Amino acid sequence: PTSQSLQGKTVWITAGPTREALDPVRFISNHSSGKMGFALAQAASEAGAQVRLICGPVSLPTPVGVERVNVESAEQMLSASLDGIQHCDIFIAAAAVADYRAAEVAEHKIKKQSGKDSLALSLIKNPDIVATVAALTPDLRPFTVGFAAETRDVIEYAQDKLARKKLDMIIANDVSAEGIGFNSDDNAVTLVRPHHVLTLPRASKHELARKLIEHLAAAYYDPATP
Ligand code: C5P
Repeated sequence: PTSQSLQGKTVWITAGPTREALDPVRFISNHSSGKMGFALAQAASEAGAQVRLICGPVSLPTPVGVERVNVESAEQMLSASLDGIQHCDIFIAAAAVADYRAAEVAEHKIKKQSGKDSLALSLIKNPDIVATVAALTPDLRPFTVGFAAETRDVIEYAQDKLARKKLDMIIANDVSAEGIGFNSDDNAVTLVRPHHVLTLPRASKHELARKLIEHLAAAYYDPATP
């Protein structure tokens, strides 16, 4: 693209799953591929931004010109996200952060208990990374964008999440629709902002990422833009 709409801006993007250890050899995670976050990183870089990708374990090549910070757990993703945040202009949370982690990580491999057919794991809530970033004081707080994957009432839930997490924008998608969203190459999203809702039609994640970055830049520079 010829448009350099994010020239001179610093954009940080979280992407992929997180991995929460149970013991030295096991973890809780999810099937997030990281594709949408990586596509956004590439599009933001092509739009002239200095981009940092903060990503959980994914098997995707780093887009050219993008700085990559690898993390595993939600707690590591949070500290990487806050480290130098005063330099970040736009923060996009595309990661599928595990909601919970083990209350205690076992020091040694958890053994199968003979004579016991069940095992209970005690989990505690992980920090909400995007809400933590959005709650920073105005001098530190970047323009903050989150994702919302829903299976019904997509816009209503996204508006609720926007308000609850105090975000500037939510990129919402209907994950119940066939062939889009989680792990697929296509996506269709609705951009939800405090006073605007805009639906972008189904497209490849790369095509959509370019459109998203254009709309995101417009909203960043002028909150009144439709
Ligand atoms: O609340 P929910 O998980 O549906 O919100 C999704 C959005 O919040 C995504 O942008 C995701 O990256 C972000 N998130 C986060 N930290 C968490 C949970 C979600 O940054 N612990």
